[in-house]
Amino acid sequence: MIFARALTRRDFDAFGFRMTQQTQHLTNSRVALVTGGSRGIGLGICRALADEGWSLAVGGTRDESDVADVLEDLCDCGVEVAYCRGDVAEAADRHQILDTVRERFGRLNLLVNNAGITSQGRRDLLEADEAGFDRVFAVNLKGPYFLTQAAARWMIDQKRASADFRGAIVNISSVSAEVVSTNRGDYCLTKAAIGMATKLWAARLAEFDIPVYEIRPGVIRTDMTAGVVEKYDRLIAEGLTLQRRWGTPEDVGRAAALLARGDLPYATGQVLRIDGGLSIRTM
Ligand code: NAI
Repeated sequence: MIFARALTRRDFDAFGFRMTQQTQHLTNSRVALVTGGSRGIGLGICRALADEGWSLAVGGTRDESDVADVLEDLCDCGVEVAYCRGDVAEAADRHQILDTVRERFGRLNLLVNNAGITSQGRRDLLEADEAGFDRVFAVNLKGPYFLTQAAARWMIDQKRASADFRGAIVNISSVSAEVVSTNRGDYCLTKAAIGMATKLWAARLAEFDIPVYEIRPGVIRTDMTAGVVEKYDRLIAEGLTLQRRWGTPEDVGRAAALLARGDLPYATGQVLRIDGGLSIRTM
């Protein structure tokens, strides 16, 4: 089921406010769909985009009641917010998510493929099973790949309807696209494949002037890494990252906002590593 909720111009009008500059942008602002946008890195991205006046379609699997506070906080930034509940691994849910965006906003300028799961049970390569492999691939690769396909078709239609239309797609992969973890083989594979998906979609959508980027975060403090805090505290202290701290959702959010703003207009298909130098080898 998809639930959509928004603080709209009607809400402001109901209280008798005149249209201010702030309310005006509710009807004119660009629209971003951020999958997995209600917590962790996705929420960091939503906050950064809200700061810049983007209208937000926040994707997620949890009940609307569980994310109500988060949605309220985003609304408090003065932007329009809709919740799009659905599992990105399921084709019907993906279509419903986009239908909700279409109904609520009538347009889509930015898709951020952020939703993802880690390896189930973080099991060694010699022990991991096929069910876990299939689920990680469905959520981390099939979901964003086909959501991109559907969003891209819509963006192309919008571009054809209006030459002024600006669209972009941002994929959140991981340092695991290039750094091996033998207890998360399936996860590493999906993130490496997102790197190729970024290049494929960049090549296909270039003629429509729709850039596609990849953000490759390092070790970020979120619910996903809550079970491995001690391990990474130690590794970071020992020099895993050049900048000796955890990354934050805000670090990734700022990178996404930069791309969304159009500040890297001649760099489609490129990777932005937000990893404190984790991927740089030293000797
Ligand atoms: P998280 O577990 O805190 O949040 C993930 C979000 O995705 C949640 O809102 C969840 O509801 C949503 N989600 C999960 N499965 C979904 C599905 N099937 N359909 C729709 N939504 C779904 O994780 P975190 O850390 O914020 O991760 C976000 C992205 O960043 C993931 O793609 C992850 O692989 C990636 N990443 C995370 C890093 C970290 O250290 N936390 C490092 C590098 C990449």
